[in-house]
Amino acid sequence: MMRDVAIIGVSQTKFGELWDSSFRDLVAEAGIKAIVDSNIAGEDIEAMYVGNMSSGLFVQQEHIAALISDHTGLNPIPCTRVEAACASGGLALRQGIMAVASGFHDIVISAGVEKMTDVVDATPAIATASDQEWEAQQGAIFPSLYAMIAKRHMYEYGTTREQLAQFSVVNHKNAKYNPNAQFSFETTVDKVINSTMVADPLTLLDCSPVSDGAAAVVLCPAEDAKKYTDTPIYVKASAQASGTMTLHDRKDITTIEATKVASRKAYDMAGVTVKDIDASEVHDCFSINGLLAVEDLGFVEKGKGGIALEEGQTERDGDFPINPSGGLKARGHPLGATGIAQAAEIVWQLRGDCGKRQIDGAEIGMTHNVGGTGGTCAVHIFGRDRN
Ligand code: COA
Repeated sequence: MMRDVAIIGVSQTKFGELWDSSFRDLVAEAGIKAIVDSNIAGEDIEAMYVGNMSSGLFVQQEHIAALISDHTGLNPIPCTRVEAACASGGLALRQGIMAVASGFHDIVISAGVEKMTDVVDATPAIATASDQEWEAQQGAIFPSLYAMIAKRHMYEYGTTREQLAQFSVVNHKNAKYNPNAQFSFETTVDKVINSTMVADPLTLLDCSPVSDGAAAVVLCPAEDAKKYTDTPIYVKASAQASGTMTLHDRKDITTIEATKVASRKAYDMAGVTVKDIDASEVHDCFSINGLLAVEDLGFVEKGKGGIALEEGQTERDGDFPINPSGGLKARGHPLGATGIAQAAEIVWQLRGDCGKRQIDGAEIGMTHNVGGTGGTCAVHIFGRDRN
């Protein structure tokens, strides 16, 4: 990076079905909380990037960057919307990092927002993140696409239904201690398997929910960070990769190539290996995608993800703790907000602010944010130490 970048403030609204907050209320709440957390004044902000997948379909509002800068009193600074389906937040974070790293701006806010529950059925809007002609219009919506991946993984590697369910069990166990999570109840492997069928083998409790919510982070040059906070968290890597939009174009549907490419670039940039990562927030829109992340990020060999889950390696006291926030499954998944909420959780973990869901001694953390079934992937690595 041309200039090192630090995160000096973060925030997340509660995620869930938030009838009392409008789209603009959510992003304003997240922005104000992040500004307070970073000890800056609103006037210090030089630019804003907002991740959002589909405000047009969910709340019939486009031109949201202007709406947000106007509503939050940030005019006339540049405000830019970033869209990459469920990876919109991860890319908004990356745009903010690049703006500060390049020297173009000093203090930048990267936010993410989605208000999904105002529509009667969110599925057609979510499905626009797949290939309309080849997938969605043929009935292959996201639960079905990920169900096919799950079936193939079970066939190729002997992954069991119980192992898949374990990903949701761990997420719910962690979300119990996250006050911002959509679902704070615990669950069991049996309950996951026996919940309502959505797309065989995936049941309701294998799926991330439809959610409202927003999150924000404040970035500045690393050399200035201690002016604002005693506990800056440093951006050690920001990587992004693209992959095939459709499943039928892949050599192997059980691998998300964009995750492999982005994560290897990120490890190189940060000068770390996967073994150095103390805490991760991965993109588990469905339990199978969490399992793929465990493999494609390199925590275990391909095909060994199921065993790793069964052995509890992803639990908070496991070898490579994953989703201390509760993940997309239980913290919630307001599409454009997710990548930023993941970064907020890692910052809280590295600061040691997570109470009962704290991963003891976490020093290096990673976020993994996927768009669609892997057309886009953003991976970020953060550290307590600048070097
Ligand atoms: N996990 C746990 N509980 C859930 C849930 C989930 N993912 N989704 C809904 N619920 C609960 C609701 O809280 C509600 O509980 P209540 O009866 O106690 O109030 C109940 O299930 C029914 O909720 P409802 O909103 O009617 O569910 P639904 O059947 O319309 O939707 C899914 C369920 C799984 C189909 C929907 O959440 C979904 O499409 N998820 C995937 C989202 C997605 O594709 N994201 C992008 C990924 S790439």
